[in-house]
Amino acid sequence: MRSGKAAPKSPLQGYRGKKVLVTGGLGFLGSNLAHRLAALGADVRLLDCLLPLHGGNRHNLEGIEKRVEWIQADIRDRAVVEAAVKDRDILFNIAAQTSHTDSMRNPRLDADINIHGQLNLLEAARLRRPDLRLVYCSTRAVYGSPGRGKVLESGPTQPLDVYSADKLAGENYHRIYSSVFDLNATILRVANGYGPRAQMRQPSFGILNWFIRLAIDNAPIKIFGDGRQVRDYLYVDDIVDAFLMAGLRSDLRGETYNVASGKGVPLIEIVRKILRIAGKGTILHVPWPETNKRIDAGDFVADNRKIRRDAGWRATTALEDGLKSTIDFYEKNRRHYWG
Ligand SMILES: NC(=O)c1ccc[n+]([C@@H]2O[C@H](COP(=O)([O-])OP(=O)(O)OC[C@H]3O[C@@H](n4cnc5c(N)ncnc54)[C@H](O)[C@@H]3O)[C@@H](O)[C@H]2O)c1
Repeated sequence: MRSGKAAPKSPLQGYRGKKVLVTGGLGFLGSNLAHRLAALGADVRLLDCLLPLHGGNRHNLEGIEKRVEWIQADIRDRAVVEAAVKDRDILFNIAAQTSHTDSMRNPRLDADINIHGQLNLLEAARLRRPDLRLVYCSTRAVYGSPGRGKVLESGPTQPLDVYSADKLAGENYHRIYSSVFDLNATILRVANGYGPRAQMRQPSFGILNWFIRLAIDNAPIKIFGDGRQVRDYLYVDDIVDAFLMAGLRSDLRGETYNVASGKGVPLIEIVRKILRIAGKGTILHVPWPETNKRIDAGDFVADNRKIRRDAGWRATTALEDGLKSTIDFYEKNRRHYWG
């Protein structure tokens, strides 16, 4: 029998009817966020140009195609960006060139998207929608190679490659526009994400997802060196929760947060877990290639106490469960992601 008590109201119900723009909305993080926003009843607009080789994938919208609007356009197009921003309440600013290695081969493209594209969005907000709430998707890579111990938001930033340097510039622009022009932006530095709806065609982005593909294909997984390097892995639903919580919190203006599990796991251990859950695949240890060695950040674990304290966010997905649902998803959907 039902008790008659109403279920407690979730703060995320504040998204009902909210006009939201997600840049990079057909990619890994953006599309997972779009699904949650659509389920919460938000008015969702996505801006994504399907940048070649990146994670943008039409299939990522399966099930919400009729509930979201997709503008197929580039954040470098000023006029489109202004039109897309001007009637919105919240902008989740996620689109980016995301490959560390490609940013070293083609630094101008990275700067074009990750610097000029960001300025377009901020200028559009300043000129056309100054009361827009902005959440900028940054990365743990801005810390560079922080060494031992959990990394605090107040720690030094020392990017090791063009991608990370340009993402840091994007952060600084958001901070400057918040303090000088009174925009309301929050910066989220995301750790190593994994989960459904990611790019699985090549290894330049999101190494864990790539390893999952190799295991599913029963192919050897190449590990550089001994694989003892420690990383902080986070399941995509937990990352999306952080974005959703931040989006409704205007009082987090100008702040920067680590979005991370706070737990370090050696790469080799996670790969062994993937092989066990997938029930196939093998490990092959190879020497570090020179370019990868030069831009590798070494061990990384973030301190997540600030976002826990200020936004009440928690990572709730155990690594084992996250890997299992990721592997299940790609086993079922491989035709949309392999290629
Ligand atoms: N995936 C991770 O583990 C991770 C970790 C830290 C930070 N990030 C950040 O998260 C964001 C999204 O990464 P992702 O893993 O979802 O990548 P993704 O490649 O899956 O998604 C990026 C999306 O942005 C779109 N895009 C790129 N350039 C664009 C442009 N100029 N105009 C319009 N759309 C454009 C792409 O088409 C793609 O759909 C990036 O800002 C990245 O820096 C990701």
